[in-house]
Amino acid sequence: MSDIDQSISRYTTGDLRGRLHAALRDAGLEPEVLRPGDLEEADQFHTGGRAATQEVARAVGIGLGTRVLDVGSGIGGPARYFAQLGAVVTGVDVTPEFVDLARELNLACAMAGSITMVLAPAQDTALPTGSFDAATMLHVGMNLADKQAVFAEVHRLLRPGGVFGVYDLMGTNELQYPVPWADAAAASYVEPDEAYANHLRAAGFIVTQDTDRSAAVLEAAAAAQLASAGPLATAVLLGKDARDRMGHAVAAVKSGALAPRLLIAVRPV
Ligand SMILES: C[S@@+](CC[C@H](N)C(=O)[O-])C[C@H]1O[C@@H](n2cnc3c(N)ncnc32)[C@H](O)[C@@H]1O
Repeated sequence: MSDIDQSISRYTTGDLRGRLHAALRDAGLEPEVLRPGDLEEADQFHTGGRAATQEVARAVGIGLGTRVLDVGSGIGGPARYFAQLGAVVTGVDVTPEFVDLARELNLACAMAGSITMVLAPAQDTALPTGSFDAATMLHVGMNLADKQAVFAEVHRLLRPGGVFGVYDLMGTNELQYPVPWADAAAASYVEPDEAYANHLRAAGFIVTQDTDRSAAVLEAAAAAQLASAGPLATAVLLGKDARDRMGHAVAAVKSGALAPRLLIAVRPV
């Protein structure tokens, strides 16, 4: 099975739309008419949640009119946050269930005019060369066997001077499984930050920043546990074994086996 097929098989549950609609109704909301903030943490499929998305946007310099590519866009939480800042966003993802739901949520949030969701592999998007000012990738690299191939495609899609923010769990692949992105080590492609930096350089980028966000992520995880997360938590995205999967990932961050790191890279002019 290719890494793309492994991702589709891991992330497809077939009932995510029903789970999310039920969670929205539990929170007193109508799924057809939403504001992006209404989804709280339920559309942020990465450690650190909405606060991490805000940090990525700030570090990459997303603002009014920025043309943003979001690689592995999930159900579109990061894309909708970037669009709220005034950006024009294209999300690319391989999981049909996520892309369909992302489009529906964009419509419900009245944001379909500023966000396009494309069902395609990030390795080969068929999008026009040099058509983005910025690119983001949040918690996707753990599903990519050949990160350099994706980074080369992002390099092609960015204009000269364009900025790429990669926010992934980095470290060792020797983990306790299952984790949110994989059932077993054979479908997991975690690498250390030095390897990411090398892949980015080999694809033509200059790496300008490498930040460890472990402290912020552990603080957010502890706070969510204390507040016993409501219906609109990241766990909705994972379904029945969410607790185990997220628990294994958080334990790995605590032990230092994994670190949520934000790398910033620039396509030279
Ligand atoms: C953990 S989720 C993160 C989703 C989103 N970035 C977020 O933070 O909310 C990983 C996403 O990467 C997507 N993905 C995995 N491999 C991909 C590939 N080769 N091309 C595009 N998307 C991919 C999956 O379908 C999934 O939506």
